[in-house]
Amino acid sequence: MRQVMVAGNWKMNGSSESVKELMTGILDGMASVTKAEVVVCPPAVYLSRVCGAADGSAIKVGSQNICDQDKGAFTGEISADMLKDVGCEYAIIGHSERRALYGESDELVARRFAAARRNGIKPIFCIGETLEERESGVTNDVCSRQIDAVIALEGVEALADGVIAYEPVWAIGTGKVATPEQAQDVHAFIRGKIADLNADVAEGLRILYGGSMNAGNAKELIGQQDIDGGLIGGASLKAEDFLAICQAAE
Ligand code: PGA
Repeated sequence: MRQVMVAGNWKMNGSSESVKELMTGILDGMASVTKAEVVVCPPAVYLSRVCGAADGSAIKVGSQNICDQDKGAFTGEISADMLKDVGCEYAIIGHSERRALYGESDELVARRFAAARRNGIKPIFCIGETLEERESGVTNDVCSRQIDAVIALEGVEALADGVIAYEPVWAIGTGKVATPEQAQDVHAFIRGKIADLNADVAEGLRILYGGSMNAGNAKELIGQQDIDGGLIGGASLKAEDFLAICQAAE
């Protein structure tokens, strides 16, 4: 049985004060969340204090990226060891905003994935197609290519106990959520692709959906056979909304 995961991607939002308030709100509501694994991914400067606040609770903390190298002259980057040092367990890798706005290639994303794994940080590996790609019917090809970059570098076993987040780019922050059927189709494709290489890895792999998921649509999406949770942007910034999604995932 795959444990449902609800992960909040706070992106570049928040302040010392709002982060404290958000964490207090989530912590207050955690008693009602018994089944889902709950992860929050704050901006890097707040990781330390969020890890401190989450300490002793069931909330796990993730970063929004991770360096592909282990240490040294990589200005602006953050290593896996540093993330572990402050208490992170997860790292979002290959988010479409990193790929599209900061030029991260499939190969770089794969190297970041590798760095996370070899240093004990669990990747939440994001993939997904743009609107243009969906309209030209290449959604599965794009997801395949993005996954293949990781498999080429690390082998399919690297996805054992892994987390993939399928995030159609056209659904991110747009309010245009994929229908449960659209999402399920791609999730089933991803699991099938992995199963062709290793059935056990495919069975254990959690595949989250991301893209305008909210309290209203979460239950139906997560109810699909191959959707094992959500990666939530906008709706993770208010404790009430985020907790409602965690509860829908129960
Ligand atoms: P959204 O973002 O929920 O605001 O669409 C999801 C994401 O980018 O991870």
